Amino acid sequence: MIRVLINGCNGKMGQEVAKSVTLTPDIEVLCGVDRIDTGDNNFPVFTNIESINLIPDVIIDFSIPEATFNILEFANKHKIPTVIATTGFSDEQLEKIKEYSKNFAIFRSANMSYEINLMAKIVAELSKKLTDSDIEIVETHHNRKIDSPSGTALILADSINNALNNTMNYEYNRHAKREKRNKKEIGIHSIRGGTEVGKHSVIFFGNDESFEITHNVNSRSVFANGAVKAAFFTVHKDSGLYSMNDMF
Ligand SMILES: NC(=O)c1ccc[n+]([C@@H]2O[C@H](COP(=O)([O-])OP(=O)(O)OC[C@H]3O[C@@H](n4cnc5c(N)ncnc54)[C@H](O)[C@@H]3O)[C@@H](O)[C@H]2O)c1
Repeated sequence: MIRVLINGCNGKMGQEVAKSVTLTPDIEVLCGVDRIDTGDNNFPVFTNIESINLIPDVIIDFSIPEATFNILEFANKHKIPTVIATTGFSDEQLEKIKEYSKNFAIFRSANMSYEINLMAKIVAELSKKLTDSDIEIVETHHNRKIDSPSGTALILADSINNALNNTMNYEYNRHAKREKRNKKEIGIHSIRGGTEVGKHSVIFFGNDESFEITHNVNSRSVFANGAVKAAFFTVHKDSGLYSMNDMF
């Protein structure tokens, strides 16, 4: 039986992970960590890293970057494989995560859906064929999301940019300038509202025609189930930084 610690356990995703774990054989929630203990969970919740007195086999983190680094310190101390699903890290923070992964296994993906990672591969292939097109990415999320653009929009942009030999620039804010778009830019746009779980479109605009691929998530269970799969994948791995590409 694999015992998991959920970091950010009282958040929307933390609760979804707890549900997913309950429905999955051979894994159970050992404990959770969050800012407050609501008393609504059927596992112990720690509000302070120093007071954690249970050692899990694996950690699943859906929180905020600051809380991710708190739990990484704990994971580092006990060499606990960790699945990071939190988004919104700076480049410097991503470097720090890479450093930690030299000591124990870390799986990180800004999107735990298999289909989104498949989409990243497909748009990379398309971008090599539709070389004359203008590429724009549009992402839509609920009104509680803090970071923008979404980590997933960046996964898609990076995948395209990689396929094009890293020749593209990302344009987040056309409002700030008055000039035409150029061929070397990928426009990335964020829409926020309501309860939308997560929608990503990549649009290839050509002359008199356009090609659009959209992925839409209707339930957070998609991400929770993906994170639980990642926990099974990571739990017995040696130190290193793993991603969806390694799992599929
Ligand atoms: N990788 C993916 O597939 C994926 C999918 C959905 C969401 N996310 C990301 O996961 C994160 C959480 O999303 P959410 O919708 O559950 O947000 P949420 O705001 O509902 O939950 C975040 C939780 O973290 C807790 N938290 C804040 N500070 C903390 C601290 N110092 N220590 C412990 N816990 C702390 C909050 O109290 C809250 O319960 C976000 O970064 C989001 O973008 C990733």
